[in-house]
Amino acid sequence: MSVERTFSIVKPDAVESGHAGEILACLELEGFKIVALRMTRLSKLQAEGFYAVHRERPFFASLVKFMTEGPIIAMALEREDAIAKLRELMGATNPANAAEGTIRKRFAESIERNCIHGSDGPDTAQVELAYFFSTLDLSGN
Ligand code: RTP
Ligand code: MG
Repeated sequence: MSVERTFSIVKPDAVESGHAGEILACLELEGFKIVALRMTRLSKLQAEGFYAVHRERPFFASLVKFMTEGPIIAMALEREDAIAKLRELMGATNPANAAEGTIRKRFAESIERNCIHGSDGPDTAQVELAYFFSTLDLSGN
């Protein structure tokens, strides 16, 4: 295992319901270092671009509407085995199937409004980090 970076979003549902702080605390308690962080609001085009891989899925339009409904918190996170560890800590996409103690089990409302995003592999992590952050943001200074 080596130290790596992943990309995460506190989704609009969790920002709106006031769980952003608890989610960030949970990430830090699990050893994730916050390398970069930005609160922003996605445009329709930006959300469509971010989730382009799901373009053909029946839930795509609804997902884009959800992701643009309010502010999000985008983060670059670093720790050993960060990509897999974040997915583990997030829990299953559907909170009904998420393990006890995971972020989605604790804070997600539904399969769509599931409070947090995490990159699903090294290639997507690279693309997603660069989608939100500049080289300077990611320089670690
Ligand atoms: P994410 O990309 O946000 O980290 O979530 P994930 O890998 O666990 O799930 P993914 O299959 O990539 O789906 C992306 C997001 O789309 C919404 N979704 N809605 N209504 C539905 O059946 C459905 N399925 C997925 C969720 O917000 C999911 O996180
Ligand atoms: Mg995904």
